[in-house]
Amino acid sequence: MTSHEAAAQDGGTGRGAGPLPFDTSVAHQARMYNYMLGGKDNYAADRAAVEATLKVYPDAAFTTRANRAFLGRVIRYLAADAGIRQFLDIGTGIPTAGNTHEVAQAIAPESRVVYVDYDPVVLAHARALLTSTQEGATEYLDADLRDTAAILSQATRLLDFTKPVAVTLISILHAVPDSDDPHAVVARLLDAVPSGSYLVVSHWGSDLLGQDTRDGLHDIGNRMVQQSLALRSREQVARFFAGMDLVEPGLVRVEEWHPEPGTGDAGRSSLWCAVGRKR
Ligand SMILES: C[S@@+](CC[C@H](N)C(=O)[O-])C[C@H]1O[C@@H](n2cnc3c(N)ncnc32)[C@H](O)[C@@H]1O
Repeated sequence: MTSHEAAAQDGGTGRGAGPLPFDTSVAHQARMYNYMLGGKDNYAADRAAVEATLKVYPDAAFTTRANRAFLGRVIRYLAADAGIRQFLDIGTGIPTAGNTHEVAQAIAPESRVVYVDYDPVVLAHARALLTSTQEGATEYLDADLRDTAAILSQATRLLDFTKPVAVTLISILHAVPDSDDPHAVVARLLDAVPSGSYLVVSHWGSDLLGQDTRDGLHDIGNRMVQQSLALRSREQVARFFAGMDLVEPGLVRVEEWHPEPGTGDAGRSSLWCAVGRKR
């Protein structure tokens, strides 16, 4: 049985916690995202899944670029305005321009960043993420978001969990199906960080897409992509921030969060995002 068939048998949710198998015959979200951003670290199956996605949802390309731009703005905000010096970036993706440590260390060279991803292709490129300033530090963990105990214990090698940490989950939680209780996963991470820490989430919004598009994306996900695509509503995304104070302007589309000139049309992407501060 191929891993794709296994994923299909598993209702498209793919698999339990653990490393993602290296399989170029079926699309991986990290490599699709890389192709969508104009990168070269992808295979024919990834490109075919992206082309199919664009047919169903042409604004997927805008949404992807808007998400990456959001990452840059939010890390700048956390480093420059919120004074954060420690970052736990889970769902790192294949390195590209403006990785978290580059953005943070351009503002605060002493920033420390722990990257986490479970895709073997991301692991193969991890060296590009380990180019820290001398004053700061970066580390890469090959781990599954759902295995929070492993992530937190290994992250303590670099991060001091008695001081504020920004936990960034940027365009990853849709890969965690409801059966793996993503809200409990996020709660476990937030339990481990002190008051004054931040949570950043961007997430595909079920209520930002029409029914036909949702059906089309689910069909592509089940047929072509190894991980699940769990779209969630604004209310479901808001629940990740239960008990936190949301930074202005609250929960909005990615291009609407602290937009800068050239950020692009408000009201166009299909990703919700927010930044919360732990009380
Ligand atoms: C769409 S990319 C986002 C990259 C980056 N955060 C950004 O927004 O530019 C999502 C990443 O999450 C990773 N991912 C998905 N599910 C994961 C899991 N359960 N554990 C660790 N990484 C995961 C994928 O391998 C992929 O690299």
